[in-house]
Formats: sequence, structure tokens, C-alpha cells
Amino acid sequence: MRKIRVILYGVGAVGSLIAKFLQEKEGVEIVGAVDIAKNKVTKDLGEVLGIEKKLGFRISPDADKLLSKVKADIAIHTTSSYLEETYPQITSLIKHGVKVVSTCEELSYPYYTKPQLARKLDLLAKKHKVTVLGTGINPGFLMDTLVIALTAPCQKIEKIEAIRIMNAASRRLPFQKKIGAGLTVEDFRRRIESKQITGHVGLEQSTAMIADALAWKLDRIVAEPVEPVIAKKAVESNDIKVKAGQVAGLRQKAKGLIKNEAVITLDFQAYIGAEEEYDAITIKGVPNINQKIQPCIHGDLGTIAMVVNAIPKVMQAPHGLVTMKDLPVPSATLEDMRRYVLF
Ligand SMILES: NC(=O)c1ccc[n+]([C@@H]2O[C@H](COP(=O)([O-])OP(=O)(O)OC[C@H]3O[C@@H](n4cnc5c(N)ncnc54)[C@H](OP(=O)(O)O)[C@@H]3O)[C@@H](O)[C@H]2O)c1
Repeated sequence: MRKIRVILYGVGAVGSLIAKFLQEKEGVEIVGAVDIAKNKVTKDLGEVLGIEKKLGFRISPDADKLLSKVKADIAIHTTSSYLEETYPQITSLIKHGVKVVSTCEELSYPYYTKPQLARKLDLLAKKHKVTVLGTGINPGFLMDTLVIALTAPCQKIEKIEAIRIMNAASRRLPFQKKIGAGLTVEDFRRRIESKQITGHVGLEQSTAMIADALAWKLDRIVAEPVEPVIAKKAVESNDIKVKAGQVAGLRQKAKGLIKNEAVITLDFQAYIGAEEEYDAITIKGVPNINQKIQPCIHGDLGTIAMVVNAIPKVMQAPHGLVTMKDLPVPSATLEDMRRYVLF
């Protein structure tokens, strides 16, 4: 049986880690790669990944050109968080008959925030007989899919809370910069206003996915403003020193409201010096459920696994735009990838 053929669309931090992980896996091969970064285009993918062997093809800046030459089953798409930006990239994959697993946060559940784009993608994917999924660790698992799974043994539910607290010192430098670590409070607020810092993208999507799984008709979803977490004492990572009074990271909450009462609350915190790191889900209902994963799941490791483990699920899913709540129970793919797929 032939291997599953993968196109890498985006060879940044996450795309590169996924590509390296795929090198270790059996039954799957990368057959092409797309990226626009000047330091990557026209270089052999192996060279860009910093692995010893060349992979025999160069990174292309032109997805359409590559897709008309190379046959692929599925694309791993990791270029941007925003659906307006990724929409033309994803439609070009669909039109070439390539299935998609993307880390685009807004694609994880676009029916609430971008319903028209969601519908257009769904129709196009059905027309071209492919499946499109947005996933990752969060959104994609910790604050939505896992929450939904934990509601399964409940007879009644009054409210749900999920919290993720991460010590950003253990994450990549770009992530530490993305959350404003080391800035003054004024600078942080300026950068939030100018959208140089965006905070976590995905809380509204996760809230909407949970509500839809439970058929709860929310009156509205409120994503509260991104707030700085201010260091009470000096803290540091390998790369950034934060003085007391400076920004160590950020916190954002989103609430799903029915009659002004929060029935879903998601609370995301990432900052240098977090003493306790965890992912916790509390369901008030019958029965009550309290789940805590400690330390919290590593963002990069979790994302890479979520994306790769989604490959066989998407290979066999119904055509159209699907979300994590539409797929079978998520699980690891430890063996040859072909074992999980009926070609
Ligand atoms: N759902 C989740 O749990 C989750 C987890 C991790 C990451 N993510 C998201 O996944 C995305 C990728 O993350 P990352 O850390 O890998 O970002 P990154 O390092 O910035 O990588 C993105 C790569 O895509 C390239 N690119 C941008 N626009 C492109 C286009 N139109 N065509 C081809 N290539 C293009 C970029 O090139 P340039 O550098 O030249 O722009 C860059 O090389 C981000 O949006 C991130 O927020 C989601």
C-alpha cells in the first residue's frame, strides 16, 4: 500500500516541527512544501529543517504551481491564525483536491465568528470531495474537544469553566515576545491597541464549539480585553528578564452567556514565572466533574501531535469543513500511519 502523501503549507516554527516529526513516522511522506519566507524559498526542505539529509525537493513560494505538478493526499497548513488571510490558501488546496489539516485558530470553529466564510469553505470542500479541519492544542483540544468529551458522563450541566495557566519561560522566544513579556504596562497596552500583540486567538471559537456540542443557544460570546499579568517580583526565562512591575505575560477570558449569566468561562493565562502550570476543567452539574492536568500540556508538543494524529481521521472523514467535535474520538497514531486509514 502506498504512503500517505503530505504537502507542507507553511514551514515556520510549527510547520518545521511537524515536518521533523513526520520524518520519524512510517507510512507517510512529505512530497512538497510551500512557504513565502525569503530565507526558505528555493531551498531543499531538509536544509531548512536543519536535518542531515536532503529531501529532494525545494520549498516553493507558489502553491498553485506546486499543486498542479505534485499529487498529494493531504496538506498540513500552518501559515496564520486568521481565516481571511488563510482563506485563499485553503481554497487553492481544496480546488486541487487536497484535504487540509490547519492550525489556523479561526478555522477551528468558524461558524460563530466567520459564518459566511465557513459556509463557502464547506460547500467548496464538498464540491471537490475533500475534508478540511482546523485543529491544534488550543483551540482544537484543551479548551474545547476535551471539555466536550468530559460532558459525556453528565446528566445535567449548569456551567463549565476551563482554565489554562502556562509558565511561558519554557516556551519559544517568539511566544514569549508574542505575550509581551518584559514590556512596560504602557508599551503592552500600546501594542495591544496597534495589534502588534494579539493575545490568544481561539477563545470565542472554543466557546462556540462547546455550546454547539451541547445545543446551548448562547445569547452572546464575550471575549474580554487582553490584560497584562504584571510581575510582583523579578522573574526570568533564558532570554527575557522581567523586573517587578513589568509585564510577565497576559491573561484573557471569554464567556458564553445565557440571560447575562456565564454558562461557559474560558480563562487563558501565559506568563513568565507562573508557579503552578495546569489545565483544569470544572463542570457544575450532575455529576460535578473536576479535572486537572498538571503540569499543563506543552503547547508545541501538543500541537504537533494533534495535527499529525488528525491525519488519518481527516483522510476518512465526510467531505466538507469539519470541526473536532464532528470527528471520532481523538487518539494517538503510534504505528504505521496507513494502519489507521482504509484507502
Ligand atoms: N491551534 C493551536 O493550538 C495552534 C498552536 C500553535 C500554533 N498555531 C498557529 O499556527 C500558525 C503557525 O504558527 P508558527 O509558530 O509556525 O508561525 P510562523 O513561525 O510565523 O510560521 C508561519 C510560516 O508561514 C509562512 N507564510 C505566511 N504566509 C504565507 C503564505 N501566504 N504562503 C506560504 N507561506 C506563508 C511564514 O512566512 P513569513 O515568515 O515570511 O511570513 C512562516 O514561514 C500561527 O497562526 C499560530 O498561531 C495554532
